[in-house]
Amino acid sequence: MRFWLRVLAVLLASSAAVFGSSRSQREHGAAVFAESGCRHCHTIRNDGGNKGPDLSGVGRRLSEAQMRRQIVEGSKVMPSFGNVLEAKELEDLLSYLRSCRDKKRK
Ligand code: HEC
Repeated sequence: MRFWLRVLAVLLASSAAVFGSSRSQREHGAAVFAESGCRHCHTIRNDGGNKGPDLSGVGRRLSEAQMRRQIVEGSKVMPSFGNVLEAKELEDLLSYLRSCRDKKRK
């Protein structure tokens, strides 16, 4: 019995490490997404523009490091947000994007 409680505790602790973002972080990240102009070019769950790819399932396709690089550095078409977002905004934005894992849309 003790043993299984300990196993459970370890599992809970490690899942917190993997999904280590709270709901309020993700909600703040969604607000950052809408307010920083991302939504102007990107759609998530049928809401947003289409200059950039649909990000509804981006959390499945890209690693956090890849997303971070794209956001901080930008690209030819996408502006760089490295000097626009505060550290906390960037972290919460990333936890929101990691949670965008829809299967159907790209
Ligand atoms: C002016 C339009 C524009 C804005 C604003 C913009 N993006 Fe992008 N984004 C793009 C385009 C276009 C791409 C396609 C890849 C490329 O050309 O870099 C892209 C690619 C991406 C990717 C990689 C997607 C993939 O499937 O490879 C991510 C993640 C991303 N953008 C996140 C963001 C976030 C977060 C913001 C706001 C902080 C943002 N973008 C703002 C146009 C934009």
